[in-house]
Amino acid sequence: MSYDDQNQPYSNDPYAYQDPSQYDTSQQPQDYTNYPSQDSYQGQGQGYDNSQYQAPQAPEQRPSLQQLQRIQSGIPGFDQIVGGGLIRDRVYLLAGPAGAGKTIFSSQFIYNGLTKFNENGVYVVLEETPQQLRENLFNSFNWNIGTYEDSGNMIILDAISSRLGLASQERFVVPRPFTLEALLYEIQTAIQTCQARRVVIDSLDAMSLELTQVDLRSLIQRLTMILKSFGCTTLLVSGQADNSNQGRKAVEEYVVDGMVRLHHTLEESVSGETTLEQNALEGNSLEEDSFAMKMRSRKIEIPKMRGTSHSHYLHPFVIGEQGIEVKSEPEVTKRLRRAIFKAKQVD
Ligand SMILES: Nc1ncnc2c1ncn2[C@@H]1O[C@H](COP(=O)(O)OP(=O)(O)O)[C@@H](O)[C@H]1O
Ligand SMILES: [Mg+2]
Repeated sequence: MSYDDQNQPYSNDPYAYQDPSQYDTSQQPQDYTNYPSQDSYQGQGQGYDNSQYQAPQAPEQRPSLQQLQRIQSGIPGFDQIVGGGLIRDRVYLLAGPAGAGKTIFSSQFIYNGLTKFNENGVYVVLEETPQQLRENLFNSFNWNIGTYEDSGNMIILDAISSRLGLASQERFVVPRPFTLEALLYEIQTAIQTCQARRVVIDSLDAMSLELTQVDLRSLIQRLTMILKSFGCTTLLVSGQADNSNQGRKAVEEYVVDGMVRLHHTLEESVSGETTLEQNALEGNSLEEDSFAMKMRSRKIEIPKMRGTSHSHYLHPFVIGEQGIEVKSEPEVTKRLRRAIFKAKQVD
Protein backbone atom coordinates (compact mmCIF):
# COMPACT_ATOMS: atom_id res chain seq x y z
CA MET A 1 0.00 0.00 0.00
CA SER A 2 1.24 3.43 -0.85
CA TYR A 3 0.84 6.40 1.40
CA ASP A 4 -0.60 8.24 -1.53
CA ASP A 5 -3.73 6.29 -0.74
CA GLN A 6 -4.52 8.83 1.91
CA ASN A 7 -6.80 10.85 -0.31
CA GLN A 8 -8.88 7.94 -1.35
CA PRO A 9 -12.27 7.77 0.24
CA TYR A 10 -12.69 5.12 2.85
CA SER A 11 -15.38 3.99 5.16
CA ASN A 12 -15.58 5.66 8.53
CA ASP A 13 -17.14 2.52 9.89
CA PRO A 14 -14.73 1.33 12.54
CA TYR A 15 -15.81 -2.23 11.93
CA ALA A 16 -15.38 -2.04 8.20
CA TYR A 17 -12.22 -4.09 8.01
CA GLN A 18 -12.70 -7.82 7.97
CA ASP A 19 -10.12 -10.36 7.14
CA PRO A 20 -11.56 -12.01 4.03
CA SER A 21 -10.14 -15.33 5.16
CA GLN A 22 -12.48 -15.17 8.14
CA TYR A 23 -15.62 -15.14 6.07
CA ASP A 24 -17.69 -18.22 6.50
CA THR A 25 -18.44 -19.24 2.96
CA SER A 26 -20.49 -22.19 4.10
CA GLN A 27 -23.31 -19.81 5.02
CA GLN A 28 -25.41 -18.55 2.20
CA PRO A 29 -26.30 -14.89 2.02
CA GLN A 30 -29.49 -14.15 3.88
CA ASP A 31 -32.66 -14.84 1.98
CA TYR A 32 -34.32 -11.54 1.12
CA THR A 33 -36.86 -13.03 -1.26
CA ASN A 34 -39.60 -13.34 1.33
CA TYR A 35 -40.53 -9.68 1.15
CA PRO A 36 -44.24 -9.23 0.36
CA SER A 37 -44.51 -9.50 -3.38
CA GLN A 38 -45.65 -6.63 -5.50
CA ASP A 39 -48.99 -8.36 -5.96
CA SER A 40 -49.73 -8.56 -2.31
CA TYR A 41 -49.84 -4.76 -2.04
CA GLN A 42 -52.62 -4.57 -4.55
CA GLY A 43 -56.25 -4.25 -3.58
CA GLN A 44 -55.49 -2.77 -0.16
CA GLY A 45 -57.50 0.36 -0.84
CA GLN A 46 -54.52 2.69 -1.08
CA GLY A 47 -55.70 3.99 -4.42
CA TYR A 48 -52.27 4.56 -5.92
CA ASP A 49 -50.64 2.89 -8.85
CA ASN A 50 -47.65 0.94 -7.71
CA SER A 51 -47.20 -0.96 -10.91
CA GLN A 52 -43.78 0.64 -11.33
CA TYR A 53 -42.70 -0.47 -7.91
CA GLN A 54 -39.57 -2.58 -7.86
CA ALA A 55 -38.99 -4.84 -4.92
CA PRO A 56 -35.58 -4.17 -3.38
CA GLN A 57 -32.90 -6.38 -4.80
CA ALA A 58 -31.00 -8.61 -2.46
CA PRO A 59 -27.36 -7.69 -2.31
CA GLU A 60 -25.26 -10.19 -4.22
CA GLN A 61 -22.58 -10.57 -1.59
CA ARG A 62 -23.01 -9.60 2.00
CA PRO A 63 -20.57 -11.14 4.44
CA SER A 64 -22.33 -13.05 7.14
CA LEU A 65 -21.98 -11.63 10.62
CA GLN A 66 -19.08 -13.16 12.44
CA GLN A 67 -18.44 -13.71 16.08
CA LEU A 68 -15.70 -11.22 16.93
CA GLN A 69 -12.37 -12.83 17.63
CA ARG A 70 -10.65 -11.89 20.82
CA ILE A 71 -7.03 -11.97 21.80
CA GLN A 72 -5.77 -12.49 25.30
CA SER A 73 -3.57 -9.75 26.64
CA GLY A 74 -2.36 -12.30 29.17
CA ILE A 75 -2.24 -9.52 31.78
CA PRO A 76 -3.78 -11.16 34.84
CA GLY A 77 -7.28 -9.84 35.51
CA PHE A 78 -7.40 -7.54 32.49
CA ASP A 79 -9.07 -9.82 29.97
CA GLN A 80 -11.94 -10.44 32.39
CA ILE A 81 -12.81 -6.75 32.59
CA VAL A 82 -12.99 -6.38 28.81
CA GLY A 83 -15.40 -9.22 28.24
CA GLY A 84 -12.81 -11.95 27.71
CA GLY A 85 -10.07 -10.13 25.81
CA LEU A 86 -9.43 -7.34 23.33
CA ILE A 87 -11.12 -7.68 19.98
CA ARG A 88 -8.61 -8.71 17.36
CA ASP A 89 -7.38 -6.29 14.67
CA ARG A 90 -8.59 -3.22 16.46
CA VAL A 91 -6.85 -0.12 17.70
CA TYR A 92 -7.01 0.90 21.35
CA LEU A 93 -5.93 3.98 23.18
CA LEU A 94 -3.99 3.37 26.39
CA ALA A 95 -4.13 6.62 28.33
CA GLY A 96 -2.81 7.81 31.65
CA PRO A 97 -0.42 10.25 33.27
CA ALA A 98 3.36 9.76 33.48
CA GLY A 99 4.32 6.88 35.72
CA ALA A 100 0.88 5.29 35.53
CA GLY A 101 2.25 2.08 34.00
CA LYS A 102 1.47 2.54 30.29
CA THR A 103 4.86 1.34 29.07
CA ILE A 104 4.76 -1.66 31.38
CA PHE A 105 1.21 -2.55 30.32
CA SER A 106 2.15 -2.24 26.64
CA SER A 107 5.34 -4.24 27.01
CA GLN A 108 3.48 -6.97 28.89
CA PHE A 109 0.92 -7.11 26.08
CA ILE A 110 3.72 -7.62 23.53
CA TYR A 111 5.78 -9.93 25.75
CA ASN A 112 2.80 -12.19 26.47
CA GLY A 113 2.06 -12.31 22.75
CA LEU A 114 5.59 -13.62 22.18
CA THR A 115 5.85 -15.97 25.12
CA LYS A 116 2.30 -17.30 25.49
CA PHE A 117 0.28 -16.76 22.34
CA ASN A 118 2.72 -17.16 19.49
CA GLU A 119 2.03 -13.66 18.19
CA ASN A 120 4.86 -11.48 17.01
CA GLY A 121 5.06 -7.84 17.95
CA VAL A 122 6.34 -4.40 16.99
CA TYR A 123 7.07 -1.82 19.67
CA VAL A 124 7.56 1.72 18.36
CA VAL A 125 9.48 3.85 20.84
CA LEU A 126 9.12 7.61 20.64
CA GLU A 127 9.87 8.51 24.26
CA GLU A 128 12.78 6.32 25.29
CA THR A 129 15.49 4.53 23.37
CA PRO A 130 15.12 0.86 22.51
CA GLN A 131 18.05 0.09 24.81
CA GLN A 132 16.39 1.88 27.73
CA LEU A 133 13.23 -0.15 27.15
CA ARG A 134 15.21 -3.43 27.02
CA GLU A 135 17.13 -2.57 30.18
CA ASN A 136 14.09 -1.40 32.14
CA LEU A 137 12.08 -4.49 31.31
CA PHE A 138 14.95 -6.83 32.04
CA ASN A 139 15.78 -5.18 35.35
CA SER A 140 12.20 -4.75 36.52
CA PHE A 141 10.64 -8.01 35.40
CA ASN A 142 13.39 -10.17 33.97
CA TRP A 143 11.78 -9.94 30.51
CA ASN A 144 14.56 -10.36 27.97
CA ILE A 145 12.97 -9.01 24.82
CA GLY A 146 16.33 -8.96 23.03
CA THR A 147 16.02 -12.74 22.64
CA TYR A 148 12.82 -12.29 20.66
CA GLU A 149 14.37 -9.56 18.55
CA ASP A 150 17.24 -11.91 17.73
CA SER A 151 14.84 -14.66 16.70
CA GLY A 152 12.95 -12.25 14.44
CA ASN A 153 9.73 -12.40 16.44
CA MET A 154 9.86 -8.85 17.70
CA ILE A 155 11.02 -5.50 16.42
CA ILE A 156 11.65 -2.39 18.46
CA LEU A 157 11.43 0.51 16.04
CA ASP A 158 13.61 3.42 17.09
CA ALA A 159 11.52 6.49 16.32
CA ILE A 160 13.11 8.68 18.98
CA SER A 161 16.67 9.12 17.70
CA SER A 162 15.80 10.78 14.42
CA ARG A 163 13.21 12.96 16.12
CA LEU A 164 15.96 14.23 18.39
CA GLY A 165 18.44 14.40 15.51
CA LEU A 166 20.67 11.72 17.06
CA ALA A 167 22.48 8.82 15.46
CA SER A 168 21.23 5.32 16.21
CA GLN A 169 22.86 1.90 16.31
CA GLU A 170 19.51 0.18 16.02
CA ARG A 171 18.61 -2.13 13.16
CA PHE A 172 15.12 -0.69 12.81
CA VAL A 173 15.20 3.06 12.90
CA VAL A 174 13.24 5.91 11.35
CA PRO A 175 15.80 7.74 9.18
CA ARG A 176 16.70 11.38 9.62
CA PRO A 177 15.16 13.84 9.06
CA PHE A 178 12.14 12.59 10.97
CA THR A 179 8.91 12.91 9.01
CA LEU A 180 5.53 11.35 9.53
CA GLU A 181 5.72 9.72 6.12
CA ALA A 182 8.99 8.07 7.12
CA LEU A 183 7.51 6.98 10.44
CA LEU A 184 4.46 5.39 8.82
CA TYR A 185 6.62 3.70 6.21
CA GLU A 186 8.96 2.22 8.82
CA ILE A 187 6.08 1.03 10.98
CA GLN A 188 4.66 -0.75 7.97
CA THR A 189 8.00 -2.30 7.09
CA ALA A 190 8.52 -3.50 10.65
CA ILE A 191 5.06 -5.10 10.76
CA GLN A 192 5.68 -6.89 7.48
CA THR A 193 9.19 -7.96 8.41
CA CYS A 194 8.21 -9.80 11.57
CA GLN A 195 4.61 -10.58 10.60
CA ALA A 196 3.42 -8.74 13.69
CA ARG A 197 -0.04 -9.27 15.14
CA ARG A 198 0.47 -6.94 18.10
CA VAL A 199 1.72 -3.37 17.84
CA VAL A 200 2.43 -0.65 20.38
CA ILE A 201 3.07 3.02 19.58
CA ASP A 202 4.60 4.60 22.69
CA SER A 203 3.59 7.36 22.56
CA LEU A 204 1.42 9.70 20.54
CA ASP A 205 2.40 12.62 22.75
CA ALA A 206 5.85 12.80 21.29
CA MET A 207 4.35 13.33 17.84
CA SER A 208 1.48 15.52 18.87
CA LEU A 209 3.83 18.19 20.17
CA GLU A 210 4.86 18.98 16.62
CA LEU A 211 1.50 18.56 14.93
CA THR A 212 -1.65 20.59 14.51
CA GLN A 213 -4.95 19.02 15.56
CA VAL A 214 -5.82 18.38 11.93
CA ASP A 215 -2.48 16.73 11.16
CA LEU A 216 -2.66 14.62 14.28
CA ARG A 217 -6.13 13.43 13.45
CA SER A 218 -5.09 12.60 9.91
CA LEU A 219 -2.01 10.77 11.20
CA ILE A 220 -4.00 8.69 13.66
CA GLN A 221 -6.59 7.85 11.04
CA ARG A 222 -3.95 6.73 8.55
CA LEU A 223 -2.08 4.81 11.21
CA THR A 224 -5.29 3.10 12.27
CA MET A 225 -6.11 2.09 8.71
CA ILE A 226 -2.65 0.68 8.11
CA LEU A 227 -2.66 -1.26 11.37
CA LYS A 228 -6.09 -2.74 10.73
CA SER A 229 -5.26 -3.63 7.17
CA PHE A 230 -2.31 -5.67 8.43
CA GLY A 231 -4.51 -7.40 10.98
CA CYS A 232 -2.73 -5.97 14.01
CA THR A 233 -4.19 -5.43 17.44
CA THR A 234 -2.69 -2.16 18.57
CA LEU A 235 -2.19 -0.06 21.65
CA LEU A 236 -1.69 3.66 21.01
CA VAL A 237 -0.19 5.11 24.15
CA SER A 238 -1.26 8.58 25.22
CA GLY A 239 -0.14 10.60 28.20
CA GLN A 240 -3.46 12.36 28.28
CA ALA A 241 -4.06 12.52 32.00
CA ASP A 242 -7.46 14.12 32.42
CA ASN A 243 -10.06 16.22 30.70
CA SER A 244 -8.06 19.43 30.85
CA ASN A 245 -7.20 19.31 27.16
CA GLN A 246 -10.50 18.40 25.57
CA GLY A 247 -9.46 19.13 21.99
CA ARG A 248 -6.59 16.70 21.84
CA LYS A 249 -8.47 14.03 23.69
CA ALA A 250 -11.25 14.21 21.15
CA VAL A 251 -8.84 13.65 18.28
CA GLU A 252 -7.59 10.35 19.64
CA GLU A 253 -10.84 9.03 21.00
CA TYR A 254 -12.64 9.75 17.79
CA VAL A 255 -10.68 7.18 15.85
CA VAL A 256 -9.97 4.34 18.23
CA ASP A 257 -12.18 1.33 18.93
CA GLY A 258 -11.65 1.37 22.64
CA MET A 259 -9.89 3.02 25.46
CA VAL A 260 -8.08 1.85 28.56
CA ARG A 261 -7.23 4.44 31.18
CA LEU A 262 -4.68 4.05 33.96
CA HIS A 263 -4.73 6.19 37.09
CA HIS A 264 -2.28 6.53 39.94
CA THR A 265 -2.58 8.57 43.09
CA LEU A 266 -1.03 8.72 46.51
CA GLU A 267 -3.52 7.46 49.06
CA GLU A 268 -3.67 6.50 52.68
CA SER A 269 -2.76 2.88 52.85
CA VAL A 270 -5.67 0.61 53.54
CA SER A 271 -3.38 -2.15 54.69
CA GLY A 272 -3.89 -1.09 58.31
CA GLU A 273 -7.60 -1.68 57.93
CA THR A 274 -7.01 -4.92 56.11
CA THR A 275 -4.84 -6.09 58.98
CA LEU A 276 -7.50 -5.00 61.43
CA GLU A 277 -10.14 -6.81 59.46
CA GLN A 278 -8.03 -9.94 59.41
CA ASN A 279 -7.43 -9.67 63.14
CA ALA A 280 -11.12 -9.20 63.77
CA LEU A 281 -11.91 -12.30 61.76
CA GLU A 282 -9.33 -14.23 63.69
CA GLY A 283 -10.64 -12.90 67.02
CA ASN A 284 -7.51 -10.85 67.85
CA SER A 285 -7.32 -7.41 69.40
CA LEU A 286 -8.54 -4.61 67.16
CA GLU A 287 -6.33 -1.91 68.68
CA GLU A 288 -3.04 -3.26 67.38
CA ASP A 289 -1.44 -3.17 63.98
CA SER A 290 -3.32 -0.19 62.67
CA PHE A 291 -1.08 2.26 60.82
CA ALA A 292 -1.52 4.95 58.27
CA MET A 293 0.90 5.21 55.40
CA LYS A 294 0.76 6.89 52.04
CA MET A 295 1.14 4.53 49.15
CA ARG A 296 0.67 4.71 45.41
CA SER A 297 -2.72 3.44 44.47
CA ARG A 298 -3.14 2.31 40.88
CA LYS A 299 -6.43 1.88 39.08
CA ILE A 300 -7.58 0.93 35.64
CA GLU A 301 -10.85 1.64 33.86
CA ILE A 302 -12.39 1.04 30.47
CA PRO A 303 -14.14 4.27 29.43
CA LYS A 304 -15.02 2.90 26.00
CA MET A 305 -14.86 -0.43 24.15
CA ARG A 306 -16.83 -0.96 20.97
CA GLY A 307 -18.38 -4.29 20.17
CA THR A 308 -18.21 -5.86 23.61
CA SER A 309 -19.54 -5.60 27.10
CA HIS A 310 -16.95 -4.45 29.61
CA SER A 311 -16.57 -3.41 33.20
CA HIS A 312 -17.69 0.10 34.12
CA TYR A 313 -15.85 0.07 37.42
CA LEU A 314 -12.48 1.33 38.53
CA HIS A 315 -10.31 -1.71 39.17
CA PRO A 316 -7.22 -1.62 41.34
CA PHE A 317 -4.02 -2.99 39.86
CA VAL A 318 -0.54 -3.57 41.14
CA ILE A 319 2.87 -3.62 39.51
CA GLY A 320 4.82 -6.51 40.93
CA GLU A 321 7.71 -8.69 39.90
CA GLN A 322 5.65 -10.30 37.16
CA GLY A 323 4.39 -6.99 35.79
CA ILE A 324 0.85 -5.70 36.04
CA GLU A 325 -1.88 -7.60 37.81
CA VAL A 326 -5.43 -6.25 37.67
CA LYS A 327 -7.83 -7.02 40.46
CA SER A 328 -10.98 -7.83 38.60
CA GLU A 329 -12.98 -7.18 41.76
CA PRO A 330 -14.14 -3.56 41.42
CA GLU A 331 -12.86 -0.92 43.78
CA VAL A 332 -16.40 -0.10 44.81
CA THR A 333 -16.91 -3.56 46.30
CA LYS A 334 -13.79 -3.20 48.38
CA ARG A 335 -14.97 0.16 49.69
CA LEU A 336 -18.33 -1.35 50.54
CA ARG A 337 -16.63 -4.13 52.47
CA ARG A 338 -14.57 -1.60 54.40
CA ALA A 339 -17.69 0.45 55.17
CA ILE A 340 -19.44 -2.65 56.51
CA PHE A 341 -16.40 -3.51 58.54
CA LYS A 342 -16.29 0.02 60.02
CA ALA A 343 -20.01 -0.09 60.76
CA LYS A 344 -19.48 -3.34 62.66
CA GLN A 345 -16.72 -1.70 64.70
CA VAL A 346 -19.12 1.07 65.78
CA ASP A 347 -21.60 -1.55 66.95
N1 LIG B 1 9.47 -3.98 39.26
C1 LIG B 1 8.60 -3.02 39.60
N2 LIG B 1 7.82 -3.19 40.68
C2 LIG B 1 6.95 -2.25 41.05
N3 LIG B 1 6.75 -1.11 40.40
C3 LIG B 1 7.49 -0.88 39.32
C4 LIG B 1 8.44 -1.81 38.85
N4 LIG B 1 9.00 -1.30 37.76
C5 LIG B 1 8.41 -0.11 37.53
N5 LIG B 1 7.51 0.14 38.47
C6 LIG B 1 6.66 1.32 38.57
O1 LIG B 1 6.15 1.64 37.28
C7 LIG B 1 6.33 3.02 37.05
C8 LIG B 1 6.65 3.32 35.59
O2 LIG B 1 5.70 2.74 34.78
P1 LIG B 1 5.71 3.10 33.23
O3 LIG B 1 4.98 2.01 32.55
O4 LIG B 1 7.08 3.39 32.76
O5 LIG B 1 4.84 4.43 33.26
P2 LIG B 1 4.34 5.33 32.04
O6 LIG B 1 4.77 4.67 30.79
O7 LIG B 1 2.85 5.40 32.21
O8 LIG B 1 4.97 6.67 32.28
C9 LIG B 1 7.53 3.40 37.87
O9 LIG B 1 7.47 4.76 38.19
C10 LIG B 1 7.40 2.52 39.07
O10 LIG B 1 6.58 3.17 40.03
MG1 LIG C 1 6.10 5.31 29.27
